[in-house]
Amino acid sequence: MPLQIIVGTQWGDEGKGRIVDWFAADSDIVARYNGGDNAGHSVTVGAKLFKLHLIPSGIIHPRPVAVLGNGMVINPKSLVDEIDMLQKAGIIVNPQRMRISHAAHLITPVHQALDKALEVARGKGNIGTTGRGIGPAYTDKASRRGLRVADLQSPDFSERLGNLIEEANQQLKMLGALTIEPLTTIKDFRQYSDAMLPYIADTSMEVDSALRAGQHILAEGAQGSLLDIDLGTYPFVTSSSTTAAGVFTGLGIGISAAAGAVVTGVCKSFQTRVGSGPFPTEVFDDLALQLRGTGANPWDEYGTTTGRARRVGWLDGVLLRYAVRINGLTELVITKLDILSGFKTLKLCVAYRQGDETMHSTFTDLPFGPSNLEGYEPVYEEFPGWTEDVSALRSWADLPQAAKDYLAAISRLTGIPVRLVSVGPEREQIVSAA
Ligand code: GDP
Ligand code: IMO
Ligand code: MG
Repeated sequence: MPLQIIVGTQWGDEGKGRIVDWFAADSDIVARYNGGDNAGHSVTVGAKLFKLHLIPSGIIHPRPVAVLGNGMVINPKSLVDEIDMLQKAGIIVNPQRMRISHAAHLITPVHQALDKALEVARGKGNIGTTGRGIGPAYTDKASRRGLRVADLQSPDFSERLGNLIEEANQQLKMLGALTIEPLTTIKDFRQYSDAMLPYIADTSMEVDSALRAGQHILAEGAQGSLLDIDLGTYPFVTSSSTTAAGVFTGLGIGISAAAGAVVTGVCKSFQTRVGSGPFPTEVFDDLALQLRGTGANPWDEYGTTTGRARRVGWLDGVLLRYAVRINGLTELVITKLDILSGFKTLKLCVAYRQGDETMHSTFTDLPFGPSNLEGYEPVYEEFPGWTEDVSALRSWADLPQAAKDYLAAISRLTGIPVRLVSVGPEREQIVSAA
């Protein structure tokens, strides 16, 4: 199994970071293939909580080499800050163990300014982006005027960055937003360039060589399947390919590596979403507070990147089946099972219903994808809850029967096995399937 892909099955924040950390112990390379610092991946090791935005979560282990693939958009300032944060925490980050694709695109301050100004212009219809410049950077990539990591070394880089800023400033003026001062940005980028230079590599070639040598490559997805630019709840999505197929273009590896790949879907035991867009199983009031938490614990449902309160709801099995289909998932990892302790009854959405009471139709798959969820009402199967605290458990046999029944229902609904369950944010708080 040289290639293992870790992908979120929902709208992000499923706990991918901590699950990547679990598998990274046995990996040779851990590679990010999409997105940028819109991602926020938390890894808790003992008293230390690492919040990673750009660097693959596997870097916390000493063994794997971290790769930032060509499918990413990289804000050099965030990268330099993250390297610094890790080094101060005693993690070794150097060019021997971290490689950045020459073909990844750069995020500049104008992309961030445009992201924010465009959101203001969208008014009530805003996407609720993270404001990190992701959409505008991928727009420039698709428009074929983006700046790439390799361009940092080019003699005309300052001129090209200056031109990009001037053009974006015209757009910012039209949007009534503050413009960006080119000279300061150009000066800052010279410094970032010096810091990044030693890490730049042909990561496509390096990952390919590692695959041929039979090494274990762990591909770490950012965001979640329902935020995919093509297959998610468009237009309330991010701008990259978050699904498993994105690994091949986002790392520059051939599709034949898919044969025999393990595709692990990380799924929270309930549903969360940050930002706007449809959410059929969303709940409110006291129930929402019980799922979200008050913010007193680091794992409560408040964004790692933006601090926003996440919307919460019951696990949506229709959307989960869709994620299994579009990613070709081979197994599931269920996170935050501990949060479900203490609910009298758990609900799992197994189908949608549309129409009035006499004329309704019920369906278990998604006609025309998930963009079109308005007007669909969830059909729930109910399960008895459990009262026991599961966070100290490490063996499947010890899980309460009600928890095993709930997990079995998820497996039945999706047709794939649950391989691991996480019962707390700590590295060791994992229960492996019997
Ligand atoms: P990611 O973006 O998919 O990596 O997920 P985030 O790190 O943004 O959000 C997941 C949050 O849940 C983080 O605060 C994790 O530390 C926490 N977490 C992960 N797994 C568990 C778990 O099993 N139980 C609890 N209580 N927290 C968890
Ligand atoms: P991780 O990797 C949750 C959401 C934003 C917004 C939409 C578009 O931590 O799971 P963008 O800034 O990407 O243009 O925002 O996508 N979003 C995330 N939600 N987790 C993430 O990443 C996200 N990255 C983007 O909230 O709704
Ligand atoms: Mg996150």
